[in-house]
Order: sequence, then C-alpha cells, then structure tokens
Amino acid sequence: MDRWILSYDHYEPGTERLREALCTLGNGYFATRGAAPEASAGTVHYPGTYIAGCYDRLPAEIDGRHIDNTDLVTMPNWLPLAFRAADGEWLDLDRAQADDRLLSYQQELDMRRGVLTRLLRVRDAQGRTSRIAQRRIVSMDDPHLAALETTIVAEDWSGPAQIISALDGRVANAGVERYRRLPGAHLTHEKTSRQDDPELLLLRTRTISSQIGIAVAARTRISAEADQTTRCEDAWTGHDLTLDVREGEPVTVEKVAAVFTSRDHAVEESGQAALAAATDAGGFDDLLERHTLAWSRIWRRCQLSVDDVEVQRALNLHIFHLMQTVSEHSVDLDVGVPARGLHGEAYRGHVFWDELFILPFLTMRFPEIARALLMYRWRRLPAARRAAAAAGHRGAMYPWQSAADGREETQRVHLNPRSGRWLPDHTHLQRHVGLTVALNVWRYYEATGDAEFLAEHGTEIMLEVARFFADLAAYDRSTDRYEIRGVMGPDEYHDAYPGRERPGLDNNAYTNVLAAWVLRRALDAFAALPRDRRAELHERLTLTRQDITRFEDVARKMYVPFHDGVISQFDGYADLEEFDWTGYRERYGDIRRLDRILEAEGDSPNRYKVSKQADVLMLFYVLSPGELDDVLRPLGYEHGPALAARTIAYYLPRTCDGSTLSSLVHAWILARVDGDTAWKLFLESLFGDINDVQHGTTGEGVHLGAMAGTVDLVQRCHAGISTRGGILRLEPRLPAAIGELRLGLRYRGHWGVDLTCRHDLVRVVLRPGAASPIRVSCGTEEAEIQPGASWETPIPDG
Ligand code: BGC
Repeated sequence: MDRWILSYDHYEPGTERLREALCTLGNGYFATRGAAPEASAGTVHYPGTYIAGCYDRLPAEIDGRHIDNTDLVTMPNWLPLAFRAADGEWLDLDRAQADDRLLSYQQELDMRRGVLTRLLRVRDAQGRTSRIAQRRIVSMDDPHLAALETTIVAEDWSGPAQIISALDGRVANAGVERYRRLPGAHLTHEKTSRQDDPELLLLRTRTISSQIGIAVAARTRISAEADQTTRCEDAWTGHDLTLDVREGEPVTVEKVAAVFTSRDHAVEESGQAALAAATDAGGFDDLLERHTLAWSRIWRRCQLSVDDVEVQRALNLHIFHLMQTVSEHSVDLDVGVPARGLHGEAYRGHVFWDELFILPFLTMRFPEIARALLMYRWRRLPAARRAAAAAGHRGAMYPWQSAADGREETQRVHLNPRSGRWLPDHTHLQRHVGLTVALNVWRYYEATGDAEFLAEHGTEIMLEVARFFADLAAYDRSTDRYEIRGVMGPDEYHDAYPGRERPGLDNNAYTNVLAAWVLRRALDAFAALPRDRRAELHERLTLTRQDITRFEDVARKMYVPFHDGVISQFDGYADLEEFDWTGYRERYGDIRRLDRILEAEGDSPNRYKVSKQADVLMLFYVLSPGELDDVLRPLGYEHGPALAARTIAYYLPRTCDGSTLSSLVHAWILARVDGDTAWKLFLESLFGDINDVQHGTTGEGVHLGAMAGTVDLVQRCHAGISTRGGILRLEPRLPAAIGELRLGLRYRGHWGVDLTCRHDLVRVVLRPGAASPIRVSCGTEEAEIQPGASWETPIPDG
C-alpha cells in the first residue's frame, strides 16, 4: 500500500458515487467530483462541480407548507469528453461492463500531487479494442483552472473516430435522493455562441435568486489532424472532433477549463475572464507542474507522519480533502466550511458547527485560513444580532445552519426515507453553535497569539455571543440559579419532552456549562484589549457595567443538572425510559439512525435514553479537565476525574453514533483511560468515509468534520499538544499501535516547530531562522528552546 495513493482496480457501478466523492479534486475555490467525463448524471454517476460560497435560494411547497431551500449550487459540468469509432457506440462504462467488454479498469487518486488518473481498455460491439488513459487536475496553483488530458490508443483497429468535448449547463441539484422534492434548478443560461477562436467554448449562466454570474470556458486541443466544429445548444456547447485514428498510434486530447463568477475579485466580467484564462493557460504538463508544486508547498506545512501506512494514507486523504475545501484560495472568498466539503450536495452545502473539529488543525498549519473562517462568522454578526433581536434577545444568535448571508438556513421539515414522512425539524434550536463560534475565536487566539484579530474582530464576536447567552439565561429566584430553557444540545435525537408538542429542552448541560465558560472568556478577551480599543467597543456595543455584572453573575450561578452521580444531558433526562439496545440491534443490525427507525415504528427517541452523538461528553472534548473543573467548582458542583469517569461510562453505551463526529469525540475522551477502545473508535472514525460506514452518505459528500477531526486528534490528543498560556504543552498519549509520531507545526508565528513523540520520549526542534525562542513543557519539565536548538525529555511512565 502506498500512503499517497487511493486506487481501484476494477469498475463498480454500485460504489461509483462513493468513489466520485473520495476522488473529488478541488482547490478551495471550486471542486469537481471524480466522475467519469463521458457520463452524465443518472443513477450511477453524478458529476457535480461546486464553487465555494455560491448559494441560491428557491421556494418550495412540501405537503402544503411553504419552505425556502438554499443550496450550494451545482455548476455547469466542465468534464464532458466522449469518444467512439465513427460507426460505433459512445464510450459507456456501464454498457461495456454489462456486455463483458470492459477489459480492464484502473483508477488512482494521487493525493501528493492532486492528480486523478483512469486507465481502461474497452472493446466496442464491433470488436474494436481501445485503450484510454486520462489524467485530471483542478489547479491548486491557479484556482480558476482545471485540466483533463485524455490519450486514446486504438489497439487493433484503424479508421474514423469521433470525440466530443463539451460544457454542460443542463445540470440541477439532484445528487441526494432525499431532497428530490425540493427544487434544484438554480441556473438560468445565456444563449451559447461560437467563439472567434475555434479552440474555445464558453457557457455563461446565472443563479436564479442570488444572481451570481458564472462563466465556464474550455479550450480543447488535439494532437492529431482533426475536423473541429462547434455546436451551440441550450445550456450546452461542445466541439465535435472527427479524425482518423491509426492502430497503435496515440491521440491526445487536452481540455483546459476556466471558471469565474461575479463574486470574484479583480474581474470585470466573468465570461471575458474565463475566456482569457483558458486562452492564456499553458498546456497540461505545464499546469501539472505548477499544480504539483503548489501541493508540495501545502504538504510541507501539513507534516504529520505515523509509522502505520494504512493509517497514514487515511490521514493524508483527510488532509487532502480538507485542503481542497478550504485553502489559500478561499481566504479572500468570505466562505465558511460546508459540513460535507465541496464534494456533494448533502446538507445543501450548509455550514454547521463542524468548524469546531476543523479549525484546530488549520490553526497550527494555516492560521490565515483559520482566521478567514472566523472572519466568515464575524461578517455575519449583524445577521446574528438581527436573529437574536427577532427572538427577543440581546447579543448575537448564530444560526445552526448558515450559508450566504448568515440567516438561519435549517430546513423546517425533513424526510424520513424509512417512513416516507416529512417531519418538523427543530434542529435550529441548537443554540450552542454560537458558543462554538466564540470558543473557536478564543482557541485561535491561544494558539496564534493573534492579538490584532482578537482586538479587531474576535472580542466583539465573543462579547455578543456572551450577551446573547447571558440574556437567554433566566434567573430562578427560588434556586438562585440561571437556567437556559427550550434549546437542543448536540444530540439531535432529543428535540422535545415526550408527549409535549412544544419543541426544546431545558438546561442542556453542554450548553449551560459552555455558556458559563464562554462568559468568562469573553470577559478575559475584553480585559486583554488595549485600553482605547476597550473604550471603543464599550461605546459601539453599548456595553454597560450591568452587562459585565450580568456575565459574571450568570457564569457564577449557572444551573447544571445531575442525576445518579453523573451530569444529566438535560433536565428530565433521568425520567426517560431505558432503551432496548440488544433487541433493536438484533432486529435491525445497524441502528445508527435510530431516529428514523423509531419514527417509522410510530415511536420517538425523545422517550428514551438514547443519544445520536456525544452531547454531555462533548464537554470533555472541548474543555480540558482543568477548564471544566474551573467552571463546575465555583458553581458548587462535583467535578474532577471521578465525575468524568462515571459520566463517560454512563453515556457511551447510550449513544448510537448516528453522526460521524461521535466516535471521534469518544475516541478522544477515552484516549487517557481506555487506550484499546479509544484506538478502535479512532479507526472507526478514520475509515468512516473510505468504508462508507453510514451506507451511502459519503457518496453525497465527505464528512469533513470527522476527516479533519481525526487528523487533529493525532495532533492534539496523541501528541497531546495544547497551547494555553503562551506555552507549547505536550502530553503525549501514543496509542500502542503507533510507535513514533512526527509533526511539523506552525506555532505563534514560528514557521517550523518539529516534534517527535515516542512512547519513551518527546523531542522538539525549533528550526533555525525563528525570530525568537519558544517555551515548551512536558509533564513537569519545562524549557525554553532557542532557534536552531532542540530539546528532548523522557515521558513520565513512558
Ligand atoms: C450532526 C451535526 C453535524 C451535522 C453536519 C449532523 O448529523 O448531528 O452535529 O453538525 O451532521 O456534519
């Protein structure tokens, strides 16, 4: 096995969508699924291209209810390239395979260089054998360019042949079966027309409601003599190439595509920009060289190696897809990170809280990208303020699902494919998303020391989120406690009390505890500001002494529910029924989507002690043991390792991992106490997308939170890195299966900090050229490392 290569040695229609998602190529500006260029969208193939931040909203009617549906829009397909002997049938993998004429098929994703290759031999119905080799890139060097090179060899025939190279705008968002009743036709097209340069094609289109102009140009060149004509149809334009092929003589067709939108900077008109870029672009090899160099720069900043090739390959794949979704090219785009990447249409390309799992890795490798993702939130503060005000609150209420302008995009109904019923969706009540945004700001600041960001943007976010939660919390005089009622925690299987119409739960422990923590950190951030900036914010946010007092009071008197010696997921959790886990597992096998199973049976998870994903346990993931104690202690609640152990042991068996984020969190929190189970869960999470453990969901887009989260787990949990208090702290807990772990990090503006962790020692090297020394610690040992120097220390109990 090669740690850089994902390879397939035969064609398999049943898993083609999964492959398409896993073989997606992108550059942070746009991405294209790894679909066969000769195929159009159907039940097997789904050639989607998505541009970061290009959303469109359409009205829909579901069961008499009017709803709005916002999608990350499927763009015109730049891939189409079809081939046939003039009197034969067009290349069609599915037909060829059904007739036993697909003689061989290999597909390879080279993650190091960002190249997707297909090699196939196919015989047509007349018995003519052709060999096709295809290479594809979506340029990491120039974010507007992609290229497809196809080499065809007629193995045992000569004669006339035809090739079509086209741009296809007859696309609609139709990649997710469950969304079929939602409108997906987001594009209106301009008439296609012939270009002066016969090598060029241009397709111009516009999204319907957001009115984003999109232009795709293509340049097609062929290595042999060929007649080339251009056809222009509605929302489609293509070159027909007719040529004579000779036995054994390769013919190469090179297609370079350029994609621009009216959202781009420094562009007057996207059509002209696309044509100019396609005209000026170099040939495939030239583009490939620059693209490969751009990837090698990325990999240099992503150094992370373990001595297990299979694990390493999965980690590389995760980093690869993360960097294809957000990269240096997305920094200026004002985009968030869609939960399913730019890899498919699940969750409609919306942005959830998943950056919680994504930012830590980026922060220590590409702080400028992490900052840009936080800026996406900062720019949507006004929308969050409006949402809070509309709900009767002060401060900022971030939406559970966000897209273009930061309004709440969570759907109001969702389909249970098991029962065929459309059901009310209350997940927008996950107010904790705002706490994530504030927490991310603080973590970014801790790791980078970026005081300017904190002063200019971060503190404002934190204060406004804090203000919202301080206002949301209601004071109960009888208990002298603050409570937060009518919300949902991360566990989406509980959205109401059993039998109650009104959605929402009271005192979700995760929300309450994190709110108390964020209130304190918001005050810390404020106190850390330079005096004049503090005065400015005071004035601009009309922050009063009462606000501050309220923050302090709520943080000091927040209520946290407990039962049976553990933290309760929410008030009343203790009264829910125990669930028949064994019975349901026997009956259904896979019970990750218990919500769907129970609803189809006329029942509801609201009645039971079942969680979709880590909820209370999220506390042990987002806060260090010390930070959690620092919240619970002043509140007068039990805290410490014994409470943690009991709480973890209680919820683990009551959680069914219906979200890919769940096993990741469990792997993390078990790493200290039960290494074997933690490793098993880590592997589950690590191979979740590769093995499509959620049965078909990866084909609809990768799970980026789990992907980035597993890489981060190696970094912050296995290597045990934390960055609090201006010290790079290391507390490695290497799993038995890993002998050595090496990381190259960016830390507080220092380009190169190299770490080696083994079971018995850690070594830290600060590369020469660093501007100043760094402080590091491991266990009770602490040291200052000078640029060019290294430090080594044995691991206690190593
Ligand atoms: C999970 C959420 C997550 C979302 C997007 C859902 O299944 O419950 O926690 O944010 O997927 O990844």
